[in-house]
Amino acid sequence: MNKLNIVILAAGKGTRMHSDLPKVLHVVGAKPILAHVINCAKALQPNKIIVVYGFGGERVKEAFSSEEITWVNQAEQNGTGHAVQQALPYLEADADTLILLGDVPLVDVEACRKLIAQADNKLAILSFNKTDPTGYGRIVRDVSDQVHAIVEHKDATEAQRAIVEVNTGIMAMPNVHLKSWLSRITNNNAQGEYYLTDIVALAVQDNISVVAEITEDEWSVTGINAKTDLAQIERVHQNRIAQALLQQGVTLKDPARIDVRGELRCGRDVEIDVNCIFEGNVTLGDRVKIATNCVVKNAMIAAGAQIAAFTHIDESAIGENSRIGPFARLRPGTSLASGTHVGNFVELKNAQVDVGSKINHLSYVGDSTIGKNVNIGAGTITCNYDGANKLRTVIEDDAFIGSDSQLVAPVTIGKGATIAAGSTITKDAPAGQLTFCRAKEQKSIAGWKRPVKIKK
Ligand code: UD1
Ligand code: CA
Repeated sequence: MNKLNIVILAAGKGTRMHSDLPKVLHVVGAKPILAHVINCAKALQPNKIIVVYGFGGERVKEAFSSEEITWVNQAEQNGTGHAVQQALPYLEADADTLILLGDVPLVDVEACRKLIAQADNKLAILSFNKTDPTGYGRIVRDVSDQVHAIVEHKDATEAQRAIVEVNTGIMAMPNVHLKSWLSRITNNNAQGEYYLTDIVALAVQDNISVVAEITEDEWSVTGINAKTDLAQIERVHQNRIAQALLQQGVTLKDPARIDVRGELRCGRDVEIDVNCIFEGNVTLGDRVKIATNCVVKNAMIAAGAQIAAFTHIDESAIGENSRIGPFARLRPGTSLASGTHVGNFVELKNAQVDVGSKINHLSYVGDSTIGKNVNIGAGTITCNYDGANKLRTVIEDDAFIGSDSQLVAPVTIGKGATIAAGSTITKDAPAGQLTFCRAKEQKSIAGWKRPVKIKK
């Protein structure tokens, strides 16, 4: 295997996206289009990855500042051949180059590998048969079926336009030849551009074999030009993820109604109902069940946990056999031990809840440490913010917090303490005792009448 350089063409403007964001930074599966292409390139373990950028250049570079990439600016976009010319000074004389397009997110590593293997002292191009080839470069073959040239749509004759085998734009060749061919291309064509595709005819002139590998997977060579393409590719990408999950044994109630925008790892016998979105890194343990319409981001959900409908989980960990939701919101820093229950309209933030504790209804618990087997009644609020600082609430094991209580932090509720319903607790409550803090007496006014509406 020869040394490998990869050039990714990404200088195009993307006018048809109608967006201020450079085209290659639009996302598929929450990752920039260009990130998919760079990941494919990295999987091929090249000596060098060169990205030719232009429109919105600095933003593109910034988005990939952690990658080892040689960035080459193509200030004016004078065609794909001109783009590769800009990369020439960075190509290694003794290497082969693979050309990829920065706007083809589903590019296939295996197809590239095959193409590179073909490029040994040859020009190898990836082609496919397109029902409607309009706009594409046509693969022109001679009588003996040898690839003879690529003719761009705008330059093609009627007969050539009838050809359905088209150029994907992905090709591989030895750098010595590439250098020579690029020095000989002209912009003498319908678009006044330097076409990379003209190197095919030059290879034929030089008696260098040209091979075309025909791919069957059209999506893997489909470029994004408009939002309609982006939406379509997103569905294809999501469907592939869903199929892979089904293959692994995950139950998806409808593979067309799940979105994975990142990495979803699942144990055995996981069930996911419709319309759930998984973002970032999510791990679901064995037998986890996720009901409909949940959003789960950067979370670990341990075996046997059940997440009921309309629950939002963000940067949180959920212990085994816990029951969360419906309509619960777990915000960053929440960690629940095993067997916890969090019910409807409960918001947790930076709260650590120990084994078997329950927060079942209408509560806010933030910046709190909750012990084992604690019961937090409906409508409990930890008042964690004094307007300037975030302060902690500690509730020790076996405590019981009566409904509609406010715990004004910093405050500690002792082990086994009981807080009477409707209390506003501002001082530590001792272990094992009943603490209450409400209006002294309950009054009733005999003969009191409700106000009546005044007639005008
Ligand atoms: C190109 C091919 C065509 C092929 C088609 C596949 C040429 C001349 N034509 O056509 O045979 O069927 O792709 O989609 O190569 N780019 C630059 N700098 C430029 C021009 C383009 O970096 O000056 C980049 C674009 O960002 C894009 C890629 O090259 O990623 C292809 O450019 P595009 O304008 O889409 O090429 P087409 O004319 O569609
Ligand atoms: Ca194109």
